[in-house]
Amino acid sequence: MLRTGGARHAPYAGHVTERLPSDPVAEPSGPDAARPVAEPGTAPAQPDRPAPVLPPTHETTTNGVGPHPEPWPDDPRLDPELLAAGDTRNVVDRFRYWSMDAIVAELDTRRHSFDVAIENWQHDLNIGSIVRSANAFLAGTVHVIGRRRWNKRGAMVTDRYQHVRYHPDVAAFLAAMREDGRPVVAVDNTPGAERIETAAIPERCVFLFGQEGPGLTDEAVAGADAHLEITQFGSTRSINASAAAAIVMHAWVVQHAELPAD
Ligand SMILES: C[S@@+](CC[C@H](N)C(=O)[O-])C[C@H]1O[C@@H](n2cnc3c(N)ncnc32)[C@H](O)[C@@H]1O
Repeated sequence: MLRTGGARHAPYAGHVTERLPSDPVAEPSGPDAARPVAEPGTAPAQPDRPAPVLPPTHETTTNGVGPHPEPWPDDPRLDPELLAAGDTRNVVDRFRYWSMDAIVAELDTRRHSFDVAIENWQHDLNIGSIVRSANAFLAGTVHVIGRRRWNKRGAMVTDRYQHVRYHPDVAAFLAAMREDGRPVVAVDNTPGAERIETAAIPERCVFLFGQEGPGLTDEAVAGADAHLEITQFGSTRSINASAAAAIVMHAWVVQHAELPAD
C-alpha cells in the first residue's frame, strides 16, 4: 500500500497558507520573507529546482504534493489524474492521491455516532464552517433544515466528503430523526438549557443549532429530547453558531471518541 504520510514521501511537499485563490495574498515579512513563495496553482518553489506548474484544482489549498514518481503504486484507491498532476486538495496526508470516492468510503467505515443539524431560514453563512468542522470531527450526517441553498465557501470543499441531508422544515426533520431513533439535542443558551460542561452527552444523537440573529426556533427547542448550552462568561449574548457547533462536537469527542494512535 502507498504510504503518503508526511513530507518525506511528498515530492514537492511544502506549506501554502490556507486560502482561496481569490483571497488577497499577504506580502511575506520577517524571517519568512526570503523563502520562496508559491503562486496559486503551483507547488511551493524549492531552492534547488523551479516550481512545477500544477493544474488549478477546485481546492488548491493547504499543503500539497506534486506528481507521484513512477512507477505508481498498484492501489485501486489512487486516482491516476492526481498521481500524474499532484494533489493539492485540503486532505490529510494519508489520503494524498486517493480518489474522492475512496476517501468517502474509508470515512464511512468509522464515522462517529453524532449528527449535526442547523436551521437555514435566511442563508446562514455558518453552515459551510459547520460542515467543515463536522468533517474534521467525523460526524455522521449534516442536516440542513429549511432552505437548501447555503454558502459553500466556508466548507473549503469538505462538503464533498460529508453526507448532507435536507429537510423542508422542523417538523419533517423531527419526524426523520424519530424514524431513525436518533435523540435530538437542541443547542442554544436559552432558558431550560443544561450546561454542556457537566452534562452527559448522548453517544448517539443529533445536535441542532440555530442561526445568527433568531437562534433556534421555539418549535425546534420544543421538539428536542435534550437542550444544552455552552457556558459563557463575558458580556456578549452568544457566540457564533459555527463556533458553538465546533465546541459541541469537540465536547462529544472528549466524552465518547476513541482517539487515533499518533
Ligand atoms: C448567535 S446565536 C443566536 C442568538 C442567541 N440565542 C441570542 O440570544 O443572542 C446562533 C446559534 O449559535 C448557537 N449558540 C451561540 N451561543 C451559544 C451558547 N453559548 N450555547 C449554546 N449554543 C450557542 C445556538 O445554536 C444559536 O441558536
